[in-house]
Amino acid sequence: MLLQLDNLNVFYGESHILRNISLEVEPGQVVCLMGRNGVGKTTLLKTIMGLLRSKTGHVRFEGVDISQDSPDRRVRRGLAYVPQGREIFPHLTVRENLRLGYEASGRMQNHGSEGTALGEVFELFPRLTTLLNRPGGVLSGGEQQQLAIARGLLSKPKLLLLDEPTEGIQPSIVEQIERVIERFKSERRFAILLVEQYMEFAARLADTYVIMAKGAVVAAGKTAELSEEQVKQHLIV
Ligand SMILES: Nc1ncnc2c1ncn2[C@@H]1O[C@H](COP(=O)(O)OP(=O)(O)O)[C@@H](O)[C@H]1O
Ligand SMILES: [Mg+2]
Repeated sequence: MLLQLDNLNVFYGESHILRNISLEVEPGQVVCLMGRNGVGKTTLLKTIMGLLRSKTGHVRFEGVDISQDSPDRRVRRGLAYVPQGREIFPHLTVRENLRLGYEASGRMQNHGSEGTALGEVFELFPRLTTLLNRPGGVLSGGEQQQLAIARGLLSKPKLLLLDEPTEGIQPSIVEQIERVIERFKSERRFAILLVEQYMEFAARLADTYVIMAKGAVVAAGKTAELSEEQVKQHLIV
């Protein structure tokens, strides 16, 4: 198993946000985490990344308990996180933003050339090549999302955490992001835990789904078998 969450309980102060969360992601699998606003999806991704700590249970990655690891140690182990709202560095150029993704994984010391890694990212997101010297902050929402995903990919993750990549961006960019995810899915190079509220996008891309309500997992299964009943009850159609 690539990722194993075992009985996580997470609090913001006194507020009990995540309740007894357990779930698993296999290598190469695309899992969609769904549920309405405020159910705790972002909180769960932050906990996986080490930005928040769970009071109970364990986060295991490739069989190793990483619950005590710092976020950057988790990046070096092969986790990458593209936050909701695409938190790029607005005052750094596109090139500098990408460089941070590359350096985060420790690849500078280890292996691979930066040029090759960037070449691959530019092939996936050609638009970025024309924007390299612009500050991230002046890019459109869709361009920033492409930059945020590209930055995540530069660390060569084994698991990519993607938080609502289609939120508030225009349909043509959504399509492009979908094509990029499709491509990774067909190559099975890494697993993706995708947070997405919109059924159609999720159903097309994900192998399996996990639905959350009020901080707990309430349903899980193969996307192909997701029932209308569950969709009506828990999701935006
Ligand atoms: N920094 C915070 N401090 C206190 N409560 C928070 C904080 N961030 C989120 N919450 C609360 O935690 C709950 C889950 O939020 P979140 O994980 O962002 O949900 P989702 O991503 O599913 O929309 C919500 O009730 C939200 O108001
Ligand atoms: Mg969220």
